[in-house]
Amino acid sequence: MLSIKNWDNKTWISSTKYIRSFNIFLLKQKKLSKHSKILDIGCGRGKIMGSLSSKLKLINKPIGLDIENHKDFDKRIIFKKTNAIKYLRNNQKKFDLILIKQTIHFFNLRDIKKILSYSYASLEVGGVILILTLDTKNNEIPTSVSYTHLTLPTICSV
Ligand SMILES: C[S@@+](CC[C@H](N)C(=O)[O-])C[C@H]1O[C@@H](n2cnc3c(N)ncnc32)[C@H](O)[C@@H]1O
Repeated sequence: MLSIKNWDNKTWISSTKYIRSFNIFLLKQKKLSKHSKILDIGCGRGKIMGSLSSKLKLINKPIGLDIENHKDFDKRIIFKKTNAIKYLRNNQKKFDLILIKQTIHFFNLRDIKKILSYSYASLEVGGVILILTLDTKNNEIPTSVSYTHLTLPTICSV
């Protein structure tokens, strides 16, 4: 599998301005509180969830999964160096938000189905899976996103 070590390593994607504006966008998609439990699949260094954790004063640290062993991960998250499918298959925890941001394209269709099915089973009632992917049609760099919103008990796409 393609290795992405520097996606969020001192790039605009790791800038405070981008992370803050992304989290404002995120909170418009899903209402969260300090009690919310969050899983970030393909979290990179986990700066986005780290920032959200501070903003919401989360009681439970968000869990971030990544196959890269980012030793400099954001310490406001629980970082797990693992394949997302392996983690989800054995997971017993329930989450209010499962974020899959710029990561779903790393998986083939069969594995995407597994990720969605396992993630769905890992949602709290009212929980949401938020998937963000690049809109490659009109963008050469990752500036714009299209997203799909899966929620219990209904599934809808935006
Ligand atoms: C393009 S980066 C996006 C990082 C972060 N979500 C963001 O938007 O800034 C995709 C991340 O997914 C991770 N990744 C790829 N395949 C994975 C897998 N099977 N399990 C967990 N993480 C994976 C990569 O190592 C990489 O850090």
